Amino acid sequence: MATVHVDGKSYQMKAEENLLHGCLSAGLNLPYFCWHPALGSVGACRQCAVKQFKDEHDTQGKIVMACMTPAADGTHIGIHDPEAVAFRAAIIEGLMLNHPHDCPVCDEGGECHLQDMTVMTGHAYRRYEFDKRTFRNQDLGPLVNHEMNRCIQCYRCVRYYRDYAGGHDLNAFASRNTVFFGRHTDGVLENEFSGNLVEICPTGVFTDKTLKRHYTRKWDQQFAPSICVHCGLGCNTDVGEHTGTVRRIVNRYNHDVNGYFLCDRGRFGYEFTNSEHRIREPLHKGKVVSAETARQQLRDAAASRKTIGIGSPRASLESNFALRTLVGPDRFYSGIADSEASLVELTIDILRRGAVRTPTLHEVEECDAVFVLGEDVTNIAPRMALALRQSVRQQPIEIAKKLNIPLWMDHGVRDAIQDRKGPLYLATPYATRLEEIATASWHAAPDDIARLGFAVAHALDSHAPSPGNGDFPLATEIARALKSARKPLIISGPSCQSEAIIQAAANVAMSIGAMLSFTAPECNSVGATLMGAKPLSAAFRAIEDGEADTLIILENDLYRRAPRPDVGALFKATAQVIVLDHLVNPTSDKAELVVSSGTFAESDGTFISSEGRAQRFFQAFVPSGAIQESWRWLGQDSWKNLDDVLAAMATALPHMASVHDAAPSAKFRIAGAKIPRSPHRASGRTAVLANINVSEPKPADDPDSPLAFSMEGTTDHPPGSLIPFVWSPGWNSIQATNTYQKEIGGPLCGGDPGVRMFEPAPSRDRSYFNGIPSAFQPREDEWLLIPMHYIFGSDELSLSAPGIAELTATPHVAVKAGDFMEGEKLDVRCGNDTVRLPVRVLTDLPRGVAGLPAGLPPLAGCDLPAWGKIVRIA
Ligand code: SF4
Ligand code: SF4
Ligand code: FES
Repeated sequence: MATVHVDGKSYQMKAEENLLHGCLSAGLNLPYFCWHPALGSVGACRQCAVKQFKDEHDTQGKIVMACMTPAADGTHIGIHDPEAVAFRAAIIEGLMLNHPHDCPVCDEGGECHLQDMTVMTGHAYRRYEFDKRTFRNQDLGPLVNHEMNRCIQCYRCVRYYRDYAGGHDLNAFASRNTVFFGRHTDGVLENEFSGNLVEICPTGVFTDKTLKRHYTRKWDQQFAPSICVHCGLGCNTDVGEHTGTVRRIVNRYNHDVNGYFLCDRGRFGYEFTNSEHRIREPLHKGKVVSAETARQQLRDAAASRKTIGIGSPRASLESNFALRTLVGPDRFYSGIADSEASLVELTIDILRRGAVRTPTLHEVEECDAVFVLGEDVTNIAPRMALALRQSVRQQPIEIAKKLNIPLWMDHGVRDAIQDRKGPLYLATPYATRLEEIATASWHAAPDDIARLGFAVAHALDSHAPSPGNGDFPLATEIARALKSARKPLIISGPSCQSEAIIQAAANVAMSIGAMLSFTAPECNSVGATLMGAKPLSAAFRAIEDGEADTLIILENDLYRRAPRPDVGALFKATAQVIVLDHLVNPTSDKAELVVSSGTFAESDGTFISSEGRAQRFFQAFVPSGAIQESWRWLGQDSWKNLDDVLAAMATALPHMASVHDAAPSAKFRIAGAKIPRSPHRASGRTAVLANINVSEPKPADDPDSPLAFSMEGTTDHPPGSLIPFVWSPGWNSIQATNTYQKEIGGPLCGGDPGVRMFEPAPSRDRSYFNGIPSAFQPREDEWLLIPMHYIFGSDELSLSAPGIAELTATPHVAVKAGDFMEGEKLDVRCGNDTVRLPVRVLTDLPRGVAGLPAGLPPLAGCDLPAWGKIVRIA
């Protein structure tokens, strides 16, 4: 640590950091624009100017940029030095010359970093009287809005988009003193992380277009800490609500998980909660019934020995547990297709064996050699792909270290590194987005990918089983790269539906003690699997054999879990179907009783992420109609709140007892007060519903959490899991996140949310798997149909979000170039199902392999990979 003297007071700062980082970490207010904790310093905006003195006797000093000056021991600086103050005021006056000053109609107003910094510098009077420079805005697609006149040329957007997220289609276009930040022409932003521009841009140039459709100021929204429901990574989010509709999702900082960024599916997928296809009241045979009637019907049904329950990997642990308790463990069935369930179980078993560590997403960023087996990471676990884009810089960064370039000096580091990347090796059935940063990639059928993995493990440890005489020149190269790395990482998962790939990945990790990360298909696949249940196929058999005649289905569209003909036959044979869900779907269409269950925004509960991290999400608002958590619909009379459900779960399933610690209980208070869900609004308490009643109605009680449906309470030092929104005096924008961290960019003061359920075990059972498959043999008249994943399309819920739906791929069959013509219509036979699909030609698919979009109707339930026929239409 270094001792730095600021305005005559001494502070301890990290010597390897810069003065801006040090000052902000010490809680000092110093304005800035171009610097960002994740992007480092470039010294572009000149806003963070301070006066630096030679020593305590120097009265002259010189102006320096705090973000470009090391926090060296013995440094003397003045933030409040009059020249530094005047310099910063002059800079912001210059930046504001062309600014439209349209705060009242700007979507950023009230939570704008530019507004905050303008107030902080004291710039209050506009002297410039001439014409302002103006721009034409672009249509950047359904997710991000563009209003270029508000730009202050800080360059954060292009640095984030191009350098950090690897995007290509956004840039700075300059002519004389005019700089334009946008695409070369109108069009949808191509990068999957474009939504982060909304938070990266310190002004209102890039804003959330989905929020614009139902705009509400930050201070009029009610927030709750939440967890993304659109993949298995468990990114932390804040849900913003106003008058009963979710208005937006913003990033919720968790140092261990998503840090400052979300993917676009996670940020914009929320719109499904406001869909016109929501189930808002219980319906019996299509007619609205009261909540009491629905609850009684559920209980009556559950009392019969012939009723069985089917759980869900997208429902909370608590809701799955409530159904399990209602029907009894012997009548509770998994909501995941058998093949996928057994693979998720295998990944959990490997991690619970504790031979190797599964990394946090933050640790993924720090890994310096990565081998991916079978996973299209960008489309399956998007935020992990963004982490991998940082990990490929770890080895090259050593060059900058040798040149004594501080790592926060972004351009210096990038100049030193140039285009060097990796090592990152990809073995996938088809080319993926990460290929552009990969050291080498290999496209093969799942069995051959597994064989490559076994070969790498054998090259690393001769005791690991070998695939024999296979031709794997890449194996030696990959093994060498992993062996020479400081923090090697292996990534795999169930996406190829191959047990052998998962086992091969485990062998590689065990052979050198590398970290091992498995993806999970859905937000609670790991939790639902850990809970344990009979296989889904057994539920089908129980109905078929007449052992059961009534189904209670929890938040699950079975048409996505099994082939259409099989699900159709199941419903035909079932006397009564009861469905609890948020949206109408093909399964709810078959139900006699449909029960309106709350989405993540209307519920409290817990998910377990692919890292094995149990994380709590909280209700953002009390919904209208008869919507409530599935666990409330299904729960026991003795359960009065969420804590009761968690306590019952800990008793029934002791291996899940630590789930309780994912967040403080409902009794938690700070100085005797609850934590408010709403920021203070200057317009007062009554304004929001003044058109209905000028008296403020009593806020709803929340028996389940320490959060209040109110702006009253205390926000002082909340635990990390209970931060509904970020705000500090003088910091109204998302940059207020800084004030919640132990140090800038570090863990939260109140601890990072979540409890890890898998840690390396002292025993470290490292016995190798040896189920090496035979080499893939293409067939003459059949194709191996494999699932292809799409960030926009493969996830069920975000498909009902208009913004995401606009970007969703249309159903198709992907085949190798030369086999068929692009756009040609083919009949694809998969099991007992045949669908007609247009061709998409992919040059890199292996011979004999064809791809079908995972999760997209009409083949959403097809059990892939499977051999199938592709027939040209005569
Ligand atoms: S668009 Fe925003 S982030 Fe980009 S340079 Fe302008 S103000 Fe900065
Ligand atoms: S990476 Fe996954 S969990 Fe994170 S925001 Fe995207 S969809 Fe949600
Ligand atoms: S933040 Fe230091 S120059 Fe921009």
